[in-house]
Amino acid sequence: MSRIFVTGGSGRLGRSVVAGLADAGHKVISVDRDAIPADQLPAGAEQHTADLLAPGEAERLIRETAPDAVIHLAAIAVPFSAPEDVIFSTNTRLAYAVVSAATDAGVPKIVTASSPTALGYGSPAGWLPPSFPLNEQTPPKPWNAYALSKLIAEQTVQMFAAAQGHKIRYAAFRPCYVISPEEWEGAPTQQGHTVRERLDDPALSAPAQFNYVDARDVADFLDVLLAKMDSIPNGEVFFVGAKDALATAPLAELYPRFLPGSGPLTEHLTGTSPAFSIDKARELLGWEPKRTWRTELTPAYEGVDTASDQENHQAAPNPAALNDENHAGLVPAGATKETP
Ligand SMILES: NC(=O)c1ccc[n+]([C@@H]2O[C@H](COP(=O)([O-])OP(=O)(O)OC[C@H]3O[C@@H](n4cnc5c(N)ncnc54)[C@H](O)[C@@H]3O)[C@@H](O)[C@H]2O)c1
Repeated sequence: MSRIFVTGGSGRLGRSVVAGLADAGHKVISVDRDAIPADQLPAGAEQHTADLLAPGEAERLIRETAPDAVIHLAAIAVPFSAPEDVIFSTNTRLAYAVVSAATDAGVPKIVTASSPTALGYGSPAGWLPPSFPLNEQTPPKPWNAYALSKLIAEQTVQMFAAAQGHKIRYAAFRPCYVISPEEWEGAPTQQGHTVRERLDDPALSAPAQFNYVDARDVADFLDVLLAKMDSIPNGEVFFVGAKDALATAPLAELYPRFLPGSGPLTEHLTGTSPAFSIDKARELLGWEPKRTWRTELTPAYEGVDTASDQENHQAAPNPAALNDENHAGLVPAGATKETP
């Protein structure tokens, strides 16, 4: 069990992170300007209300609570929800204030939330990455203050990692479009529409590149990351997403409609394949998301799901090959060997 200091613990993602880490047996210290309602504060968690931008607050709270790890989520989390200069200065100053206070206090593990928007999709000037799926090698090209502030948050932990060597472990993660538990049951998502509306109208999910992640899977990711941080390179960045896309049609069909010029880059995104790879988190940490919209949406989706149909069709064994000793023959030509 660790003592984990979580900033932004009252937010859309923070509430699930606080609950998930408390559930995993950690002592969680949630710090936010807004309080979690007392009847919703999980056993094993305590909370402090504070403005982390007030001089000395981050340092005071970290020293008083003496955590083993800090997870920094507090931010203005929606692009263009405030003037650009306010988003930039709030998010960069928050990241610096929390990460530097934790470093000065000698907290051994420090993690900050970034965002996939750092890649720069949605730019009015156009955007095309070199290849899909998008991963940690995809060059970031932020085009607004929010995306830039998140890239700077990543660079903030990397700057401290460069200065500290191995003494303190740092990491950043880019959660995909976060779906909190009540949103599976119809509560509005961050952009205002429901998950079901995003599935019914791909134009709603296209701006986020059809990405999403269950907030509880992010909590699981953070638990695994904290456990493994000593044994991975310092200052790493991870995408944290679902294993599939938030879409009912294969992205190979949707991308040419929504991202001009992407056709040749995305034709291999068949079945339920997402646009974002989470292979780095799988390979370095052994983390795997447990939830998808197909398992969590309540009531279940009743519309047409051609992505799943295509995936199942591709993954179905060829009956003619069932007696073949060569197991490679179980996968029809052109199909992937991934499990559906
Ligand atoms: N929700 C998403 O889809 C998503 C996607 C990618 C990245 N992120 C990142 O994840 C983190 C959490 O996002 P969220 O959706 O939970 O956002 P949210 O707005 O729901 O929560 C952010 C929390 O930070 C708190 N906060 C802001 N300024 C503060 C300050 N000065 N002092 C103390 N607390 C302060 C707010 O009160 C709020 O509770 C953010 O860093 C965001 O950029 C979120």
